[in-house]
Amino acid sequence: MCGIVGYVGDREAVEFLLEGLSKLEYRGYDSAGIAVYDGSVVRVEKSVGRLASLKEKIEDDMPKGCLGIGHTRWATHGRPSDRNAHPHTDCTGEFVVVHNGIIENYLALKEELIEQGHAFKSETDTEVVAHLLEAVYHGDFEAAVREVLRRIEGSYSLVFMSKKHPDRLICTKKDNPLVIGLGDGENFIASDIPAIIQRTRRTFILNDGEIAVVRKDSVDIMDRQGDPVTKKVFEVNWNAEAAEKGGYEHFMLKEIHEQPKAVRDTMSQRISKDGKEIVLEELKWTPEFLNSFNKIYIVACGTAYHAGLVGKFYIEKLARVMVEVDLASEFRYRNPIVDENTLLIVVSQSGETSDTLAALKESRRLGAKTLALTNVVGSSIAREADQVLYTWAGPEIAVASTKAYTTQLILFFMLALYMAEIKGTQTPERVRELIDLLKKIPAQISETLSDVEPIKTFARKYGFNEDVFYIGRSLDYDVALEGSLKLKEISYIHAEAYAAGELKHGTLALIVEGVPVIALATQKSVYEKTLSNIKEVKARDAVVIGIAAEGDEELQKYVDHVIKVPETDELLIPLLTVVPLQLLAYFAAITRGCDVDKPRNLAKSVTVE
Ligand code: G6P
Repeated sequence: MCGIVGYVGDREAVEFLLEGLSKLEYRGYDSAGIAVYDGSVVRVEKSVGRLASLKEKIEDDMPKGCLGIGHTRWATHGRPSDRNAHPHTDCTGEFVVVHNGIIENYLALKEELIEQGHAFKSETDTEVVAHLLEAVYHGDFEAAVREVLRRIEGSYSLVFMSKKHPDRLICTKKDNPLVIGLGDGENFIASDIPAIIQRTRRTFILNDGEIAVVRKDSVDIMDRQGDPVTKKVFEVNWNAEAAEKGGYEHFMLKEIHEQPKAVRDTMSQRISKDGKEIVLEELKWTPEFLNSFNKIYIVACGTAYHAGLVGKFYIEKLARVMVEVDLASEFRYRNPIVDENTLLIVVSQSGETSDTLAALKESRRLGAKTLALTNVVGSSIAREADQVLYTWAGPEIAVASTKAYTTQLILFFMLALYMAEIKGTQTPERVRELIDLLKKIPAQISETLSDVEPIKTFARKYGFNEDVFYIGRSLDYDVALEGSLKLKEISYIHAEAYAAGELKHGTLALIVEGVPVIALATQKSVYEKTLSNIKEVKARDAVVIGIAAEGDEELQKYVDHVIKVPETDELLIPLLTVVPLQLLAYFAAITRGCDVDKPRNLAKSVTVE
């Protein structure tokens, strides 16, 4: 998983390369590098660490030239180092390559190339691509690239540059994203749109197997055989500011505050004008077909998996269909029982997560019908699935996912309600009531966000504790899982979520004086039981912060502090309770001086296994 960029035009390439890479650091940031052709030599500059280190290294002597490529890395093969940073070159330094993905057969290729006399400088899988290009090049750059692609196995997006052909860059992709930005007398290549929207909104989104020859005045796309491919220009309609921080200190805080809009955008167009029904026009399946499956799997990773747990609850409760939820990395290796009567729902903010994509492909192969819930139009998962429902959350940049989660919950809720309408498992009055409550959620999230001071205070007070526990039952437990993930990923505090009823089977042994416990108690059907569990931890002198709905006057009697969220149906309340948990994680990370948007060892989009 990495970010790659390329530039060909009349301006100094380095300007776009550095700007583009800064927008792609969410894809990885353990080292960065650029290569620029100055008319006589290709100058390669690399530096371990953030892009800032590279900038510092070259600021007094910027590479000059109008053709260049760049890379921000998240290490897979070979630890982060200057040597392993991209771009990688062949023996002559004339062929240069940047890569996102994994070349699976690189060891065999490396051996072969070493036997032929090639000298390797790094431990990466990528370097074989540069040497292979050198080995198969006989004067025709495009033909050599096609030959390289015939030989390599794995996943990749690649940009090739050659001193011998200084008028062009060649790029291609398989299972990793790549876009081409179309400028005026200049063209751009990047792993993702935020890298290019400052420069252009006209793009080509490459499909697997397509090869693009990008010159300053033209982009020629061909298939693996070299036959031309006609592509439609994709106009990006994101507002340029949407990919920026918009005045907030961090993307994460900005994205937390964008939730009312993201949620509203996701539900709009999906409720009938009279407010009585959910309409999912994008679903091309007939309602009968959607309800014909006898098994539903929800498969995802990370936060999207947590959204899937809530999704299961919604579908089972409202539409009365059994649902299994699985982690994509587990699902694909356990020989799942999947056939043509199975519906596989994959959830992915980025639409690029490698494990989720692989689970999707495997299920399709086994005959399942597939539905993707994703945030990125044209992403690999969106293209691979039979049907897609988009969360209209806008670009999510912070590694810790926030608005993607709440919009995924909205989609699941609407899907479940839609299925319930068709099956008749809920009365029209109940459907109407839930839709009315759903429509209030954006304003209620805004209300929850209107006073963050108490949460800031808790974060300051408890932010230096080493362990924090989250407990809840039913949907509160699902939200507890997401809350604890938020805390651990950005503040590095050890955080565990437990089904409150499970405490006594082990975890209670860890509850000692002063340990913070965040207790969610919003689910009426299990309220009394949750209260008993809260009393259990209080009896061990834990410090308990309770999360309750407005109108609950009971919880405060048993806990140290209470955070209240607006009242709604208990099915919808996760959309509100998760908000203080996101903020708590954010302010705890700030208290501890952590890099909120780029937590250590993590990346936004995990496009390797
Ligand atoms: C990474 C991110 C998480 C995200 C997960 C799944 O681990 O850091 O925030 O939840 O990938 O990503 P996806 O794009 O598939 O939702």
